Amino acid sequence: MEKEIFEQPEAIKRGVSGRIDLEQATAHLGGLNMSNRDLLNIERVRITAAGTSYYAGMVGTYLLESVARVPCTVELASELRYRNPIVERNTLHFAVSQSGETADTLYALRELQRKGATVLGICNVVGSSIARESDGGVYIHSGPEIAVASTKAFTSQITVFYLFAMLLGRMRHLSYEAGLELARELQVIPTRVEQILAKQKSIKELAGKYAHYKNFLFLGRGINYPVAMEGALKLKEISYIHAEGYSAAEIKHGPIALINEETPSFFLVPDDGLKEKVISNMKEVKSRGGKIIAVAVEGENSLKGIADDIIEIPKLKNGLFYPFLMVVPLQLFAYYCALDLGRDVDHPRNLAKSVTVE
Ligand code: M6R
Repeated sequence: MEKEIFEQPEAIKRGVSGRIDLEQATAHLGGLNMSNRDLLNIERVRITAAGTSYYAGMVGTYLLESVARVPCTVELASELRYRNPIVERNTLHFAVSQSGETADTLYALRELQRKGATVLGICNVVGSSIARESDGGVYIHSGPEIAVASTKAFTSQITVFYLFAMLLGRMRHLSYEAGLELARELQVIPTRVEQILAKQKSIKELAGKYAHYKNFLFLGRGINYPVAMEGALKLKEISYIHAEGYSAAEIKHGPIALINEETPSFFLVPDDGLKEKVISNMKEVKSRGGKIIAVAVEGENSLKGIADDIIEIPKLKNGLFYPFLMVVPLQLFAYYCALDLGRDVDHPRNLAKSVTVE
């Protein structure tokens, strides 16, 4: 798992390689099997997946709606397959799966295709069932992912959604300048991820300080809300520490009752339009005695006196790209907590790398 976390800069580079067209400020994704006319006719996008791939799909919904202005939803494959889904015209479906063998996602794909849907795969494993049975798709090219806890597949899957949102956006309302800004930001992400990986030692120390806690909350908003969910999943599956991922805004509707000195909260604090809202959510936790670990942009002064610990991430020009930088410290934190507790990180109990049964 550690090796795969550290492979992320290279994996993202591979996912982007040959797919960005700076001259046209757009992306090229060869395997879609769709003409520009087909792409233009897309009126909505529906994504289905499981686990970490589902959270990557959630990030995808934010991107497709904000960058491409195409309505987009995501649904757990295990739910979709049994609820007699309605397949609408001019709708593009994505099945997202690292392994390409997850039974729920594969059966959801088959159910959608049986009803006449066009389903594209976003897979890592070349020639896997979902890659073979889909109507086209995009390989994430993150290289073999062996550890049960998915890490580099997540950042590679969202890379594909940034590219696809850029492609659809540039066929619609996205200007040349805006497309170029997105393309350039995506190209610097591997370097920014490397900068976070270089903080390995301090994140390890932080994990040592917190690994004995029994419950954690992971809180984010907007495009970082799925990252909070992913952070909680990582911690649960390899360290067996109970963790809940929530929208920071939602805690007042229930989870805030969990807050006390024994329940630390991870807050994801990007410097985007939601920052002030997140900080106000932090204050609510602080005033109830909860410990706070913030993942925040370098030089963010407003957290002093609120956060107990801060993991700093580099500042980005475009706030939409923070999921890449927010997720890496959470992966490392989960990894080092698990090591601290003596867990078998690569073979966590009760889990298999790919879930090929119901
Ligand atoms: O191979 P897939 O992406 O379809 O797998 C989906 C989930 O089983 C997977 O992401 C699982 O949640 C991981 N153990 C998460 O780390």
